[in-house]
Amino acid sequence: MRTLVLSAEDVAATVRHVGLDALMDEVIAELHEACDDQHGIHNYDVPKREGFSYDNPAVGLLEWMPLLKRDAEAFIKLVGYHPNNPWKRGLPTVLSSLLKFDTTNGHLNVIADGTLATAIRTGAASAVASRILARPDSSKLGLIGAGAQAVTQLHALSRLFPIREVYVSDIDPRVAESFEGRTETLNLSGVSFHVCSANEVARSVDILCTATSVAVGGGPVFEDGALSPSVHINAVGSDFPGKTELPRSLLDRALVCPDYLPQATWEGECQALPPEQLGPDLMQLVRGCSQYAANRTRTTVFDSTGFALEDYVVLGVLERIAQQIGLGFEIDMESRGDPHDPYAGLAGAPGATGRVGMGLVEAMDSGFARNGQGSEVRAVKAGSKGSKP
Ligand SMILES: NC(=O)c1ccc[n+]([C@@H]2O[C@H](COP(=O)([O-])OP(=O)(O)OC[C@H]3O[C@@H](n4cnc5c(N)ncnc54)[C@H](O)[C@@H]3O)[C@@H](O)[C@H]2O)c1
Repeated sequence: MRTLVLSAEDVAATVRHVGLDALMDEVIAELHEACDDQHGIHNYDVPKREGFSYDNPAVGLLEWMPLLKRDAEAFIKLVGYHPNNPWKRGLPTVLSSLLKFDTTNGHLNVIADGTLATAIRTGAASAVASRILARPDSSKLGLIGAGAQAVTQLHALSRLFPIREVYVSDIDPRVAESFEGRTETLNLSGVSFHVCSANEVARSVDILCTATSVAVGGGPVFEDGALSPSVHINAVGSDFPGKTELPRSLLDRALVCPDYLPQATWEGECQALPPEQLGPDLMQLVRGCSQYAANRTRTTVFDSTGFALEDYVVLGVLERIAQQIGLGFEIDMESRGDPHDPYAGLAGAPGATGRVGMGLVEAMDSGFARNGQGSEVRAVKAGSKGSKP
């Protein structure tokens, strides 16, 4: 039984193969379709995510986001959030891995880097909600927090709206100033960028995306006042208890739509609101899109915490394309042999004669790994040698 491994480079090559715009369009379409499913979320079991939050050795969070597609397969995303990564370690704030399992036997079918996938699906989720809640002629986009997610917010929204002016703010001026340069891959033409304060951004735009790494208790990230009465806001950075971005007065007058209610009331903007103030979730929005589009003349909020269905959808798209073009590696990762004897594969191995502490390299030199007596250390290019059973 093989496991398909899609590294960051494989995922990037998959995206390059189809093209960034085509890939984003596909993820937006498939996420919309998954939300529009007649049986909707009832096809899936999606517990709210859990995780570890810590201050040492760095401020961070490690979470697991499970999903069961009934009668089919299971999925888990493992995601780390370490807001000091970019400047202290040269790494993205959000790093993640995506894993898919066969529910007939527990076999790990796929493991993929989830970092680019997360950014793409987060942009796509905002696009799905904004298409319903924002005015179709929205041309001014605001970004408060100009890091990694801001890039895909702009990309996804530019696929659906005639964006002409982008207003950018970040508490770190280096990030705000570098934003335009980081959008060069997006093929945007005729778009003007303006770096300004968070309040100026909020006042100037038709659609606002907040994608900050604001600390717990550090919000709101802009002041309420003089916003367009029909502004649509994608609140992306509120995804932990106490970590919110929007002013309460704005939430009180807006239609607030959570992505996934059980999670958003725990860790999104919705955590501040009583049940009677909660609007339709993403599935309800999509299924009642013409009804909810009537709200485009008022203030609306998409409370995006990010949930496993989005990750499951983007992995499905990437896996399908990677398989078609033979990207990635297939490896024998799990042990086989006598199902009742975990030691069966060790028979005759040097470790079985009393040597302990043998490293992999030493084991390979000894022929242990090559001679088929242990788990095979073997990798084949995906699609190059048969197909996965
Ligand atoms: N909703 C989702 O599905 C989803 C998905 C991924 C990430 N996120 C969240 O989105 C946020 C951004 O993630 P990222 O990957 O872009 O991180 P990032 O580190 O690349 O960018 C975040 C930026 O926010 C800025 N910032 C922090 N506090 C601010 C404030 N008060 N005002 C303005 N700017 C501020 C930082 O300087 C940083 O440049 C994080 O909170 C992350 O948890 C949400």
